[in-house]
Amino acid sequence: MLQKMVIRGGPPLKGAVRISGSKNAALPIIISSIMAPGRSEFLDVPDLMDIRTTERLLTDLGAEVVFNDKFVVDSTPIKNHEAPWDEVRKMRASFLVLGALLSRFGIAKVALPGGCALGPRLVDQHLKGFVSIGVKIKEEHGLVIASGKNIRGDSVTFDFPTVGGTENILMAACTAKGETVINNAAREPEIIDLARALREMGAVIEGEGEETIRVQGVDALSPIRYRIIQDRIEAGTYLMAIAVTAGDVTIENFPADMLTSVVGKLEEAGVDFKQTGDEMRVKGPKKINPINVSTQPYPGFPTDLQAPITSLLTVADGTSVVTETIFENRFAHVPELIRLGADITIDGRSAVIKGVKGLSGAKVMSSDLRNSASLILAGLVAENTTEVYRLYHLERGYERMEEKLSSLGADIKKVRQDD
Ligand code: EPU
Repeated sequence: MLQKMVIRGGPPLKGAVRISGSKNAALPIIISSIMAPGRSEFLDVPDLMDIRTTERLLTDLGAEVVFNDKFVVDSTPIKNHEAPWDEVRKMRASFLVLGALLSRFGIAKVALPGGCALGPRLVDQHLKGFVSIGVKIKEEHGLVIASGKNIRGDSVTFDFPTVGGTENILMAACTAKGETVINNAAREPEIIDLARALREMGAVIEGEGEETIRVQGVDALSPIRYRIIQDRIEAGTYLMAIAVTAGDVTIENFPADMLTSVVGKLEEAGVDFKQTGDEMRVKGPKKINPINVSTQPYPGFPTDLQAPITSLLTVADGTSVVTETIFENRFAHVPELIRLGADITIDGRSAVIKGVKGLSGAKVMSSDLRNSASLILAGLVAENTTEVYRLYHLERGYERMEEKLSSLGADIKKVRQDD
């Protein structure tokens, strides 16, 4: 059943909200359990559509999975080493099974991800990395066939710090012979969390969070019990929601050290922060200052918060420029925000946003996860009613958002979308 979100804008958010576990850390960590035959348990895994897709992917490979308050995988019975197109097309991150299956079986067949709403999103860097460590790669009928019974560690140098590429090679390198050195590695906190989980499984890794990661291959990995880090993108999205409604909210389980660039930008915009332990009290200003933002690999401003911050700046007191440097095509929220009364012009890779006095509710269409969140944020301040269609995008990555925003006083509900 298709659903839409109906929001009546106005009330400032008030109260307290708790941040869930990180989707983008949980996905590769759960997938890495393929490499450690036995029963692994993961805690703080958010209940999201992408996690359910991962559950299905593992089950189709032969694993036994139970996902209630924790995510339990018994990877012993996995026999299949093929992830078909049907799985990969639903979620690009399914391509991460390549490194894990290769480590376990010496062979993996995984469908090539196609384009997505954000642009072509190639995997050339993943494949280049595998070839550098001696894996044979063939492409046939839309499948990547990777084989390498005795992968030998070597040096891998990415052209740019790809998150998924770093994760895939990191996994395969854990059981390669000798040392693998990953140069120009991505430094995102989710990579650090994956490296920590792999280390608990028995991998020998150093340098995660830096540009060069070194992995000494070991013979085998063992299952673990592991707690996933907080979702910094969910936390960042709530920051924008609080700011845009001039709210006053305490965020619990707040990953402050992973959000320094975001907090810095929001301070410039006039948002007030007060940290006590793992709680952050956030107060939105009466008047939002215009700011310029450019997305960058971590520790820079995350591309996943580009759409949400664009929504915030639509009602700033002046002109802001938001530049997207990571994805080719991540401005699909802009025409929808314009329908809500925003004044935005796209100039190449930048959105020039002239702040308006207020937005006015309308029906809008989401087309990816983060842009659906940005449309909801706009709905929180727009006059009258905003309806966000194709809500399934939101449900890939925000746990119980309707419930969390309602508990903060927002007038928001999910209803059936008729067409
Ligand atoms: N790219 C290539 N070749 C490659 C790999 C990537 O050209 O071999 C390009 C992509 O097309 C894209 C850019 O490089 O334009 C960034 O790709 P990257 O590999 O760094 O990202 P990813 O692993 O595909 C992860 C997150 C994304 C997040 C990006 C950037 C997961 C599951 N996904 O994607 O999250 O935007 O890093 O930080 O971790 C989201 O959660 O909404 C989301 C899209």
